[in-house]
Amino acid sequence: MEQMKRVLLVSFLILSALIITACSGKSDSETTENENNNDASEEEQVTIVYATGVDTTGATQSQIEAFEQAHPHINVEYREMPADTGQQHDQYVTMFSSQSSEVDVYNGDIIWTAEFAQANYALELDRFIEADSIDLDSHFEGPIQAGNYNGRQWALPVYMNASFLYYRTDITDTPPATWDELIKQAEKMQGEEGTEFGYLLQGSQYEGMVTNFIEIIASYGGSVIDEDNNVVINSPETIKGLEKFAEIVQSDFVPGNILNFQEIETENAWIAGDSVFARNWTYMQSSSNDEERSEVAGNVEIAPIPAGDEGSSSALGGWMAMINRYSEHPEESWELVKFLAGEEGQKIGAIQGARAPTIESLYDDSEVQSAGPLFSNPSFVEGLSVAVPRPVSPIYPEISEIIQIEVSRVLTGEQTAEQAVENMESQLKEALAD
Ligand code: GLC
Repeated sequence: MEQMKRVLLVSFLILSALIITACSGKSDSETTENENNNDASEEEQVTIVYATGVDTTGATQSQIEAFEQAHPHINVEYREMPADTGQQHDQYVTMFSSQSSEVDVYNGDIIWTAEFAQANYALELDRFIEADSIDLDSHFEGPIQAGNYNGRQWALPVYMNASFLYYRTDITDTPPATWDELIKQAEKMQGEEGTEFGYLLQGSQYEGMVTNFIEIIASYGGSVIDEDNNVVINSPETIKGLEKFAEIVQSDFVPGNILNFQEIETENAWIAGDSVFARNWTYMQSSSNDEERSEVAGNVEIAPIPAGDEGSSSALGGWMAMINRYSEHPEESWELVKFLAGEEGQKIGAIQGARAPTIESLYDDSEVQSAGPLFSNPSFVEGLSVAVPRPVSPIYPEISEIIQIEVSRVLTGEQTAEQAVENMESQLKEALAD
């Protein structure tokens, strides 16, 4: 029965993809019509460049095609950026700090808004939002807030991310509810059904590891900075969470090179059928159930991230459309931002890329619901609205760097969790005092 449901789901996904492709393909008569229009108003043709990280789902391409179809005078050139958010960040900083206009619209990580607003890398969207009467209340509050800094809106959400525990239904029906259960089950079940590992996470020294850290300490009641910007990282709760993180990373049920794992390594090992459990973002439900790519299609379900003493916690992630302040085509860029953050763009992202919409009503859309098992699950939607944000600060990259270095030293066994939180406390206080 379950198998049958999967087959139906996959067929539906393929069908939806075909429909989207068909809808976005130009028919002969349309092409001629558009070309005639172009002849009449050649000078109005504008090409804008849209930069966004590697997308293995093809959703970005479909969004661009649908946008171009609706805006025949705007061509969009897709610039693929690295998958690693940190590498993307550094490339944008290099570009924008020299006031380059080579990119018009870009997807910014939810953690960049304050920094990019302060550095003048983004264009305020308020006047466009007002002129086009965009209803920001139709989105979840978290991502809208994440695009707001100093009372102005610098970015609109394209999709949001929350993390989940992926598990193999051919191995277990009862996924672990706590970290201690995860450790027990991963040890016991590793090796079943051809698996090599019990659990996969992101242990490499980069931003994704910071999100693993934030959620595990939050599940024990720990956090980095409080609402009033006080550094509160040096607490027994954070120490406990960090010790649990290190225990898992140093266990025998994760790959020996887990300290090199980012999302992409996790996804590759997961769809190859190498592990019983894995931590990853929402989008992995798409490749997990893709029969062409995945060895485990039909055998994957999703549960909340395991709980610590305080409960389960997921980091808030996601990507926001922003306009380069130096773009020579702000009006056309806005049209693209409006499309990507709007219902049509987000729906394509959900159906083809399993990307979680930020527009709440899309979860009632039957096509979105059929696109991924999570989208029709009310506790998933509830989970999205309570995901834990990372610190909001114009110096977020510095904060992240401190966490990356000090936490990595615990994961490699070079220092204790107590030493790490002391070091982080003093370095963060200094960075925030500057
Ligand atoms: C995902 C999240 C993003 C986060 C990144 C870390 O892309 O959406 O917010 O920073 O993962 O690797």
